Amino acid sequence: MAFIALSDLVYLVCLISLQFTAAKPDGCGIRANTQTRIVGGEISYPGKWPWMAAFYRSNSNQYCAGALISDRHVLTAAHCVAAIQPSKLQIRLGEFDLSGRLPVPLPENNNNSARALLEENSAFQNNIYNVEKITVHQQYEPRSHLHDIAIVRLNRPVEFSTVIQRICLPPPSLPSLEDRTAFVAGWGTTAFLGSTSSSLREVEVPIWNNQACLEAIGKNVFDTTLCAGGRIKSADACQGDSGGPLMMPMVDDRWAAIGVVSWGIRCGEPTKPGLYTRTSHYTDWILSTVQQRT
Ligand code: ARG
Repeated sequence: MAFIALSDLVYLVCLISLQFTAAKPDGCGIRANTQTRIVGGEISYPGKWPWMAAFYRSNSNQYCAGALISDRHVLTAAHCVAAIQPSKLQIRLGEFDLSGRLPVPLPENNNNSARALLEENSAFQNNIYNVEKITVHQQYEPRSHLHDIAIVRLNRPVEFSTVIQRICLPPPSLPSLEDRTAFVAGWGTTAFLGSTSSSLREVEVPIWNNQACLEAIGKNVFDTTLCAGGRIKSADACQGDSGGPLMMPMVDDRWAAIGVVSWGIRCGEPTKPGLYTRTSHYTDWILSTVQQRT
């Protein structure tokens, strides 16, 4: 089946990315802790999504998210970084609860490892990164959200750990994936105009057919858009989740960032999916941006 062949390609992309990172041989998309603005989801646990990055503008709260894709680069949405100077942006990695609290309640059967991971996390004081360069997609159109994708280069290389890993990129020729499900995680609001979450939350979202998505949303659904959201039960990203990855396990259960949280009409309405930038369309652009030395 086609999917098997393209699974190999995911590996390939991982391997390509290995060439320009100082990664440990474990590679992308793997989480050390394998026990197993989000609407309708649940609190995650430390180390489950170790590529999640929290974005801060100078002296403000977390406002967007991203996904670590190399030891130096974070994938995000263009609308998160298009109007900001690199010097005004800070990124925190290895975060679970942005206020430094333990997850409450601690995940079942996982109390010790959650605690150990979080202690490692908070002991790791050096998890705040400044930004050297922001590359917004050259054809990004704020009005239509077309090409809502950007890459941020950190000012220093990341040291991978149990709570900091990078996610794989999907192969460029990924099929539509409709009717499969993916995960989205974030610290964004838990309802439209609701409050944000200091603990990372996650939710599983079914992927829509693009035509059905266009009919539901009305406009601005392109080939480069991926739509996902709960049809029966409310499940969606929301304000503050932007830039974060839509994630799916691929070959060998390695996680790939198949989308970037971009926009939506309100949040969590079963008739209206959330809209994501379809990462597979940009794999080549991402790889060439990451390979630029400066
Ligand atoms: N644009 C929003 C942000 O900046 C993301 C909205 C996603 N909305 C949705 N219903 N999926 O955080």
